[in-house]
Amino acid sequence: MKKYIIKGGTALAGEVEIGGAKNAALGIVAAAIMADETVTIDNLPDVTDINVLIDTIEGIGATVERVNRHCVKINGRTVASVHADNDYIKKTRGSYYLVGALLGKFEKAEVTLPGGCNIGSRPIDQHIKGFSMLGADVKIEYGMIVAEAEKLCGAHIFFDRVTVGATINVMLAASLAQGNTIIENAAKEPHVVDVANMLNSMGANIKGAGTDVIRIKGVAKLHGTEYSVIPDQIEAGTFMFAAAATRGNVLVKNVIPKHLEALTAKLYEVGCSVEEYDDAVRVIGNPVQKCSQVQTLVYPGFPTDMQPQITVIFALAQGTSTVTENIFDNRFKYVDELTKMGAKIRVEGNIAVVEGVKGFTGASVNALDLRAGAALVLAGLCADGYTTIDDIHYIQRGYEKFDEKLQSLGAVIEIVDNDRDEQRFKLKAV
Ligand code: EPZ
Repeated sequence: MKKYIIKGGTALAGEVEIGGAKNAALGIVAAAIMADETVTIDNLPDVTDINVLIDTIEGIGATVERVNRHCVKINGRTVASVHADNDYIKKTRGSYYLVGALLGKFEKAEVTLPGGCNIGSRPIDQHIKGFSMLGADVKIEYGMIVAEAEKLCGAHIFFDRVTVGATINVMLAASLAQGNTIIENAAKEPHVVDVANMLNSMGANIKGAGTDVIRIKGVAKLHGTEYSVIPDQIEAGTFMFAAAATRGNVLVKNVIPKHLEALTAKLYEVGCSVEEYDDAVRVIGNPVQKCSQVQTLVYPGFPTDMQPQITVIFALAQGTSTVTENIFDNRFKYVDELTKMGAKIRVEGNIAVVEGVKGFTGASVNALDLRAGAALVLAGLCADGYTTIDDIHYIQRGYEKFDEKLQSLGAVIEIVDNDRDEQRFKLKAV
């Protein structure tokens, strides 16, 4: 089983290039099958979640040409089935965007129920509510979401809670519905805006994405386009926090600094320096960092996908910090793993009380989900000695060449497959 091995203690230094946003790309790849012309998508991250979704749309008949690792051409004219189900797609979350895309285009979709990271209960009632209001009959049958409409018609939808997934899904379906749709209490995340921009470049008529009211005028069909995915805010944030946690100095390139403001603000609070440029940010980690507090919120608040990573920073800061998780109900499982490395964290309900320690010590830990896994890598980079992280397939779902990018910043990290590789790494890293 492949794992990361890390020899901690190096302050990261240098420059790193951020790839395309995974969570935007999932919606964008699904949207691409809605046209009967070629859609070229660039700046795609080469990560498992995206590759599984691309294989799945190919599996239902879409014509897919992989131009290079980050660019794909998709033509939905050849889609021959509305039934999307395979062993891999079951494990991802983004599969549910195929419901919106297929329902919009064919008025029928049968898509396996979404998997994704185990970070608590993840209901899809708001997706179902949205599709139903557009006139679809939606059932859960044999592990599938089955949605069908005689005619998809625009509707006034008020989400009961802010949800990225349901906002994107309803936007997809409503783009090809008859008449006007209004989504109230919509999610405002940058990836919602990116999917809306992409759909508009295919001829959709979506206004208001990025605010909490999105208005969609249904159009008869969508056409081909060329689109480049926005930079990944969470990958960028992870490298920013890696620089801070290791007390390093890293220029994080190809980012939209505006999307990172909640993260930048926290870095200032703990005492790091952040320099903003047009499409880059430099983070300089102060040797002594202060405690603070954070609450995860919908955009533009602090993102839940950066919660485990900021906990690592707080765990090495002076004083006691608090981390409140407001989005998912079970996103602190990684705390037990951090504790094995010497962190002092107490979880009470949705709040983690983090008492700063002087340092971590290396240990064998498990990546329990994507962002938790990334946080453990950050902890390993700061720890004295060797850390091994199992189940790195979670991390590879959302971080492209994470080990190689960290190596380019001076980190001593490798993927190893067996004990012999591990011993070899240790001899080399001494
Ligand atoms: C997306 O998940 C992301 N995943 C998550 O990223 C991210 O953490 C999350 O948005 C919040 O930003 C993808 O884009 C594939 P939500 P999603 O719908 O769509 C509740 C990562 O690490 N809810 O905004 O599942 C839900 O349980 C992943 O990259 C309902 O109650 O998130 C949660 O508490 C992890 N009913 C809250 O809303 C619904 O029908 C927000 O969920 C839908 C959601």
